[in-house]
Amino acid sequence: MENTDRESLPFELLPSRTDVVRLVQVSDSHIFADPKGRLLGLNTRESFEAVCKRVVKEEWRADALLATGDLAQDSSAEAYEYLASYFDSMDVPTFWIAGNHDNPKTMDKYLNSGQTSLAKHIIIGNWQIILLDSSVAGKVYGELAESQLKFLEQTLTQNQDKHSLVVLHHQPVEVGSKWLDAIGLNNSDQFTALISQYSQVKGVLWGHVHQEFHKTIDGVHWIASPSSCVQFKPGSEDFCADTNAPGYRYLNLHSDGRIESVVHRIDNIEFTVDYTIKGY
Ligand SMILES: [Fe+2]
Repeated sequence: MENTDRESLPFELLPSRTDVVRLVQVSDSHIFADPKGRLLGLNTRESFEAVCKRVVKEEWRADALLATGDLAQDSSAEAYEYLASYFDSMDVPTFWIAGNHDNPKTMDKYLNSGQTSLAKHIIIGNWQIILLDSSVAGKVYGELAESQLKFLEQTLTQNQDKHSLVVLHHQPVEVGSKWLDAIGLNNSDQFTALISQYSQVKGVLWGHVHQEFHKTIDGVHWIASPSSCVQFKPGSEDFCADTNAPGYRYLNLHSDGRIESVVHRIDNIEFTVDYTIKGY
């Protein structure tokens, strides 16, 4: 999808501390228009709210929240309206990208008010955060359009003095799960080649895989995170739900370019997941 001017315009945020930018990532909430909507038997609004309550309780000083795609399961206006209102109540500047279950145009309409912005280029302290749209209409796999690769190249070229975190929905490196790696980022070679040309890129962050993943390659952190609803089992050949609890990730971006990151999972609520279902 083409980045419009208002999306690609730098959104400047002041970090609450000078030495570290604090981010929270909430991913793959898979919200339905129907409040009773369930994914594999799990009510996705309930688990999303449980995750967000924990975020507010523990990470209330976060400078920004990144919602990294598959925000809605059914790409409905109702789901996005609910999300916009919930993000507003958390009182943290929130930025988002689309996943394979989303509709970017509907998101632009409903997720751009109050605390939620459709901006895709955030400047904060010594850092810039670049949000890319890897969704392809009607497809589960991802791909970065020419316009997205150009946007990435431009922001990196124009801000060489900023440490950079690049965010997208689909995994640009294999996570070791056959069925998931078949629906990752199609043009990952182009993306990783571009990333390797810019030494100020310190991290690449994504959702989609509903599991924790963290590898450091040549000084760059490659990071995936749990979903706020159903988890997928790491290393599985075919679709397989995991028994791990819903979770989220927080990241500390230090002014010297270091990234510290950890996943938290909710542990105080019982969730029902139907493990007999073999797809999502
Ligand atoms: Fe997802």
